[in-house]
Amino acid sequence: MIVVKTSREIAIMREAGMIVAQILDHLKTLCLPGVTTRHLDQVAEKMLAKFHAVPSFKGYGGYPASICASVNDTLIHGIPSNYMLKDGDIISIDIGAYYKGYHADAARTYMVGHVREDVAKLVDVTERSFFEALRVVRPGVPLSNIGHTIQSFVEAHGFSLPRDFTGHGVGQALHEDPPIPNYGLPNQGPLLKEGMTLAIEPMVNMGTYHTKVLADEWTVKTTDGSWCAHYENTIVVTATGAEILTLKKEANEWEKKM
Ligand code: MF3
Ligand code: CO
Repeated sequence: MIVVKTSREIAIMREAGMIVAQILDHLKTLCLPGVTTRHLDQVAEKMLAKFHAVPSFKGYGGYPASICASVNDTLIHGIPSNYMLKDGDIISIDIGAYYKGYHADAARTYMVGHVREDVAKLVDVTERSFFEALRVVRPGVPLSNIGHTIQSFVEAHGFSLPRDFTGHGVGQALHEDPPIPNYGLPNQGPLLKEGMTLAIEPMVNMGTYHTKVLADEWTVKTTDGSWCAHYENTIVVTATGAEILTLKKEANEWEKKM
């Protein structure tokens, strides 16, 4: 069942989203050679507490940290550790904030120092695929047009889309209906409605789309060792389109990015 939120609920999710946006903006400045992913997690956890929010992920299905920190060939769910970032790495940071009974969920892929040109392109295409998909979001549009748009855009740039993980509805629960695949045929599934809150999260591989879960039962890597990126925002379907809840206002003028 897809829960449509009231304007009161959306106002709370907007606050939760701003907490996530501010933490991600700060973590970006820390993604430097020599910094451990555990340090990033500790900073995130302190900031969440300062904002009177609770980490959405810690304890979720036994997940042990406040952020996911996924480096290079790790696609998602990388557990923060003593791994030290180095020049040329890319790191996807995924964070959820639970605030006044609602979750906001977002991820970015940041570049550490100077990254290879093809890797920079991967990061750029992943981010742009989100905004391409957002352009089709408005009431009455079939849900699968989101994934279809992401797949068309990403594959046109020569990258692939993992099939094993999807975006999702988000609200009082971190993962609500509907699942939002990043691939597929257009014109399928339920129609978008004003007040739906969705985490749209393209995950993109440079090589094969196949992924594997490591023995820690969390870390997801590409099977061929190729690098991968992730970009996610929590959005709300509005009367005329979409509003991104996990980007600050100045960055939220996303039409200008197109
Ligand atoms: N943002 C991820 C998601 O949407 C985070 C899940 S990590 C977990 O699924 F620990 F919470 F599972
Ligand atoms: Co998510």
